[in-house]
Amino acid sequence: MNPIDLVTKRVSPYAAEKRSTTYLALNENPFPFPEELLQEALKRMQIDNLRIYYDSPSEELVEAILQYVGADFITERNVSIGNGADEIIYVMMTIFDRVFFFPPTYSCYKIFAQALNVKYIELPLEEDLHIPEVDLKEGDLVFIPNPNNPTGHLFEREEIEYILKKGAFLALDEAYYEFSKVTYLELLKKYDNIAILRTFSKAFSLAAQRIGYIISSEKFIDTYNRVRLPYNVSYLSQLLAKTALDHVKIFQERTEFIVQERERMKDSLKAMGYSLTDSFANFVFVFIEKKKRDRLIKDLSKKGITIRSFDEGVRISVGTEEQNNMILKELEVFR
Ligand SMILES: Cc1ncc(COP(=O)(O)O)c(C=O)c1O
Repeated sequence: MNPIDLVTKRVSPYAAEKRSTTYLALNENPFPFPEELLQEALKRMQIDNLRIYYDSPSEELVEAILQYVGADFITERNVSIGNGADEIIYVMMTIFDRVFFFPPTYSCYKIFAQALNVKYIELPLEEDLHIPEVDLKEGDLVFIPNPNNPTGHLFEREEIEYILKKGAFLALDEAYYEFSKVTYLELLKKYDNIAILRTFSKAFSLAAQRIGYIISSEKFIDTYNRVRLPYNVSYLSQLLAKTALDHVKIFQERTEFIVQERERMKDSLKAMGYSLTDSFANFVFVFIEKKKRDRLIKDLSKKGITIRSFDEGVRISVGTEEQNNMILKELEVFR
């Protein structure tokens, strides 16, 4: 078979859906990037930097990330950036022999592993959503989102350390960190086989700009920087990310609102009799069996509402108050 057909056969497709009016399927931030910060970034922008191959990461962005992260045990040599956390995930996969993940988990782990033709092993989470027992060795790379996507639940520290003690390299994907405020960053003090991944896509309303960052040992960051593309993140994306970090309070207040809305949605859905995970991200996860789920997705889509379906249930991103009320109303009628 020719290489193009081989890859097509191997790779599961991205969901290239047309946007519905109420799109709650990708865990985006319902707040637009603040207009005044966009203006500030444009004022700060130096036109000549568009002409050159601009540093990626720039020193000033790394400084801002270090300040935001606020850990005295990391320096600029422990930080790098990617074209979204997705690029970091993609690049990391090329470095190791085998990749492990535990479904239900972030769907791109499998999509990227298939695209790159790296050996991957999927082991489902246990029924109570804990990490299963797993045989690991040096050369293995394990992906764990914490909070998990799509369930939004948090793993316990012992589960994370269980992987680290086995000698595998752990990519701890904290894409939703701001909504849980739980981080295992300090494990970097104890282990050198861990990387923390974060993103500007969720809490900072910059998904379209494609920018995320990685924190790890100096040695691993050096390796990552050798493997990734040079100049991987644009000047404008870095400038917007830096401007966001300079005004972090705005985003923290918005995050608080989203968290309150998440809790309101969880409480309301529970009161309606739905079974939910305890999500600490910017979405809720409702267990619904397949037949009912398919009917729900179809009903909602007729009304211009899109949520995401998984084998175990549905994931609904927290939207604006109005959108959340709308989906709650629909689910009340549906039950
Ligand atoms: C767990 C997890 N990691 C990474 C990403 C991708 O982040 P980015 O937009 O920075 O590529 C997502 C996006 O939904 C995610 O859910």
